[in-house]
Order: sequence, then C-alpha cells, then structure tokens
Amino acid sequence: MNKIKKCLFPAAGYGTRFLPATKATPKEMLPVLTKPLIQYGVEEAIEAGLNTMAIVTGRGKRAIEDHFDISYELEHQIKGTSKEHYLTEIKDVIEKCTFSYTRQVEMKGLGHAILAGQTLIGNEAFAVVLADDLCDNTDEQSGVLSQMVKLYEKYKCSIVAIEEIPKQDTNKYGVIVGEQEEEGVYRVNDMVEKPDPKDALSNLAIIGRYILTPDIFDIIKYTKPGKCGEIQITDALLTQAKQGKVIAYKFKGTRFDCGSIDGFVEATNYFYSKSM
Ligand code: UTP
Repeated sequence: MNKIKKCLFPAAGYGTRFLPATKATPKEMLPVLTKPLIQYGVEEAIEAGLNTMAIVTGRGKRAIEDHFDISYELEHQIKGTSKEHYLTEIKDVIEKCTFSYTRQVEMKGLGHAILAGQTLIGNEAFAVVLADDLCDNTDEQSGVLSQMVKLYEKYKCSIVAIEEIPKQDTNKYGVIVGEQEEEGVYRVNDMVEKPDPKDALSNLAIIGRYILTPDIFDIIKYTKPGKCGEIQITDALLTQAKQGKVIAYKFKGTRFDCGSIDGFVEATNYFYSKSM
C-alpha cells in the first residue's frame, strides 16, 4: 500500500489582503505569535507522518527557504545562552523532513500552482496544505491532515476537508454536495468554486487541506480558467468527482482563515490564550 509521504504547499500567491506587509515578505511567513504560518502547516504534515515538503513559491518568497535552513551566524551567536531554546522547535522540524522548491512563474490560480508542483511530487498521491488556513486540534484528536491520511487508507481517492460556513459566505469558497458514506464523510457528486450564495449547492465549504491522487495533474492541464480567470483546483476535482473519486471530510478541529485580517487576528488571540 502506498503511504502518503509528500506534502505540497502552494505558496506563490501575492497575499494582497495583507499589503503592505506582504510587499517584500511572503504571506506564509507572517507570524501567529512567534511562528510563521507555514511552520504550523509543516508541523501538521510531520504529525501526519509526512516527511517530504514540496513548496511552490514565486518571486519575493525566498524567506521561506531561509526559514527552513540552518542559520550559522545566529545559532553560533546564541549557543549556550538562555535564548538557545527559541530555535528548538524549528531545528526539530528541519531534522524531521526534507524541503524542495519550485517556482510558479505566473500566478494563474491554485490549480495552476498545484500543477507547478508536479515536478516535485511525481506519480504518487500527496497532501496539499494552504498555509493561510491555520488548523488546530484538541489534545485528544490528531491534526486535520492526520485524520485525512487515515481516511485515504480506506477510500484511496482524492479527499477535501470541509466545514459548514454561513450561507452568505459561499462566494469565498469551493462548495460541495455529496452522498453521505459515514458520519462526516461524503462522496462528492458536484462542486462549484465561489458560488453566489443564492446559487450555492450547500454550505459545505472546502478548506485548505487536500489529498490528491496524481491523475489530478493531467486533469489540471486540460482545465480551463474558471472563477476570477484562474485555473481552479475545484474545477479539476469535479472531473474526478464525476467518476465518484472525491471524498469530502468534515474534519474535527478549528480552522482560522489567516488569509483575511479578521481570521488572522482571531488566530492570534486563540493561540495567545492557549499559550497562557
Ligand atoms: P488566495 O486566494 O488566498 O490568494 O490563495 P493570495 O494571493 O494568497 O491572497 P490574496 O487573496 O491576494 O490576499 C490561496 C492559496 O493558493 C496559493 C496562495 O499562496 C494561497 O496559499 N496560490 C494562489 C498560489 O500559490 N498561486 C496562485 O496563483 C494563486
């Protein structure tokens, strides 16, 4: 049985909602407390048993590569001091997995960014994490990606994480409908990207966690630009869904939309309270 080992992080977007902060700093490097968003995502992937991180970046995103590398001068400077422990977590992350990078040359949408990652993924099923969706779980539960990897072992097809959202927000998400297979698990038969609330199929929205089978790459190649003129992963997934090959999973845990100011502030308050 092929275990999922690779995790793709599409991180090439401009992050315009956070300008001017994101003018020279990648959105994925914005910190919630002391940790950048993308590190939370990588830690979630490691917890799910994945050890190969594949990151799709773009111009101006070099700070991500530097973050997941050693910093000789800094480490030498604080070695043996009371500040050394600040680097323990990130050093642990770097030891547990490998990182590889490719660039999306033109930002033509999430589907297009995922296709850019094909060169790093090859011909195997893989996870996708959008680091600006920050997820947390209670101590009794495993992380969202971990829950999805387990589900993949059973269903062996693409999986999208979903949550119920207020109906008026459907125009911000991909929305699915499907037949319930078991509690919280649906076999998707239709999905639409950012539908107008009055046309939405349901209020079950896709969040930034996916498991994709590698046939998705060929499908994306033939997927035409959709909503906002971008190549949408939701449109590519619809092709798989029509063959009964997409599962939607109502994950257990909490998600913050850190791509928006409100979500980012909520996440900061939440993690701050938790750390107290
Ligand atoms: P968003 O829709 O949040 O876009 O992308 P964005 O550019 O990051 O942010 P705003 O809307 O301008 O503020 C969702 C995810 O898809 C990635 C982003 O990096 C983010 O993780 N993405 C999006 C790409 O990698 N490439 C793209 O062409 C588009």
